[in-house]
Amino acid sequence: MSELNNLCGSKESKFFFKADFDISEYGILPEICETIVSTGFETPNAAPIGIIQKNGTTFVRIFKGSQTGENVFKEGVLVANVVYDPLLLVRATFSKLELSEFDFLKLDGRNFPVLKAALSWVAFRCVGCKTTGRALLAELLPLQAGFRAENRKATPGPNRGFNAVLEATVHATRYQLTGDEKYVGWIRHYEELVRKCGGEKEKEAINLLYNVLDFE
Ligand SMILES: Cc1cc2nc3c(=O)[nH]c(=O)nc-3n(C[C@H](O)[C@H](O)[C@H](O)COP(=O)(O)O)c2cc1C
Repeated sequence: MSELNNLCGSKESKFFFKADFDISEYGILPEICETIVSTGFETPNAAPIGIIQKNGTTFVRIFKGSQTGENVFKEGVLVANVVYDPLLLVRATFSKLELSEFDFLKLDGRNFPVLKAALSWVAFRCVGCKTTGRALLAELLPLQAGFRAENRKATPGPNRGFNAVLEATVHATRYQLTGDEKYVGWIRHYEELVRKCGGEKEKEAINLLYNVLDFE
């Protein structure tokens, strides 16, 4: 097993310090916070992943077969980005983002990918990685966090259209995974909400989602 694999397995790694700060100050709120997780020192990748906080522990549950899971297992770190861009949410779910959409944060000699579109971000060390039948579970210890000042000016108020894009995208990933028709009704319900309450970006995002799913 390589040093990097050990990073994911051990809480006593000599490579990283443990920072002590409140991740909620950077927008990672309990219980499940829907972030876009960026991973990959060499080839950055991004995908929506829930950061779970329960009983004083912060962790992720990453389903097998994803690039994110592979990177976390191999490199033992991830960055949780707080993002309110509906189009980016859909694009990160179903396609690869451009290299130009990432910035790199030098931490302990490594390049951590951070999304340029993030309002805030928290870099985590992943420890105690366990694989269950369908998923990889990893506890998260915060390393460093920050805000992207230029994006904070545009902090959005709550919008049902954005929330509806988020819900529709979750159901779309489940539909792709299972083929269960019950998800189709839910996706269409959220699409109606996006049309009613969303702005241009939310509508563009739902159109892209419909394209990906080949829905009319
Ligand atoms: C809002 C949202 C939350 C998600 N949360 C998770 C999660 O916690 N764990 C997971 O494995 N997949 C989650 N997914 C699905 C992944 O984002 C999806 O499988 C993605 O295609 C993985 O991409 P990757 O192969 O680039 O890592 C979520 C999707 C959405 C839209």
